[in-house]
Amino acid sequence: MNHLELNWHNALSTRKENGHLRRLRPPNEGCDFYSNDYLGLSADAAFQQTIYEAIGRDTRLLTGSTGSRLISGNSDAATGAEKRIATAHQVEDALLFPSGYKANLALFSCIAGRHDTIIVDELIHRSVHDGCLMSTARKWKFRHNDLTHLEALLKKASGNVVIAVESLYSMEGDFAPLGAIVALAKKYQAGIVVDEAHAIGVFGKGLVHRAGLQQEMLATVVTYGKAMGVQGAAVLGTHLLKEYLVNFAAPFIYSTGMPGVQIVSITAAYDHLERHPTLAITLQDRIRHFRKYQLSNTSQESSPIQSVQFQHDRELRAVTQALAEAGIGAYALFPPTVGQARLRVSIHAFNSHDEIDQLCGIIQQYEYRK
Ligand SMILES: Cc1ncc(COP(=O)(O)O)c(C=O)c1O
Repeated sequence: MNHLELNWHNALSTRKENGHLRRLRPPNEGCDFYSNDYLGLSADAAFQQTIYEAIGRDTRLLTGSTGSRLISGNSDAATGAEKRIATAHQVEDALLFPSGYKANLALFSCIAGRHDTIIVDELIHRSVHDGCLMSTARKWKFRHNDLTHLEALLKKASGNVVIAVESLYSMEGDFAPLGAIVALAKKYQAGIVVDEAHAIGVFGKGLVHRAGLQQEMLATVVTYGKAMGVQGAAVLGTHLLKEYLVNFAAPFIYSTGMPGVQIVSITAAYDHLERHPTLAITLQDRIRHFRKYQLSNTSQESSPIQSVQFQHDRELRAVTQALAEAGIGAYALFPPTVGQARLRVSIHAFNSHDEIDQLCGIIQQYEYRK
């Protein structure tokens, strides 16, 4: 082992000792209360068939795009899909990315400059922080959903200011107060970026769109790997924003364009959801059923992410074990990842009432926090 490898070994040993070692596990075969596939699209045979037929009509879609979109990797499929996405969200334009991580990296790496300030909610996704690391702008954090703290930072900020939030937070399951943030942004002439990764599909075209606030945004990020059942992302905004990203966002410029199969599957996901509005209604029914048990510490009644807190880590370990033995998977989060030990229960349109009853019956046997 050389010195570098010794450092890796020591870092891993520390993680093991703290009980925080990450491992790649075989996919869980049991009952799914942990994935982001909120509407069950990823396993929907009719949806899969639509994508399969689209590819059957043009097998060139199956293989790579051969280069950056600025050189050889652009296609009618990509530009057509971006038009389709922009129309769906009622924005001027859209720019596709192979993942939400890369979309945020691209956007935050270049939207603000040396004398500007990006103010992010402290719970915003890691990809936003990493994008800010690539940027010359300064980054400040405000306490989660705390508008008083946000306003205090807005008063102090210099240069152009961008506020970045998620519409639906993936750990807490709560929403950003978008209307109030728009009002603050107007007062201090700041721009707003909203990441809609967990909201799109669950709430139609997202919570920004639903609240009629799309025109108030500097940019919106939607991702397709969760409720949309496929993979990828788009940045939504003006023609100017798109042209700027195409010219200045390094993760877009210096990377091979997305393969056609990914692009047609995204278009198919929009079509499928527009044809099947009942999926989101069924999901809300399942969330209501879960909340009848009054286990959740999540304030939002309609959120597909519900969090059940436990007084002690050992209780959470025990409940996770009991659930696993019953063939039920839910995601356990321990401090310091979150302030308080909690079970993150992701609810899906395909979870039956019986499955939810079984899950809640097990949780009730442990000391959850009310
Ligand atoms: C809020 C948020 N933004 C961005 C991402 C990254 O999206 P992707 O998984 O498509 O890279 C995630 C994924 O976990 C997310 O939760």
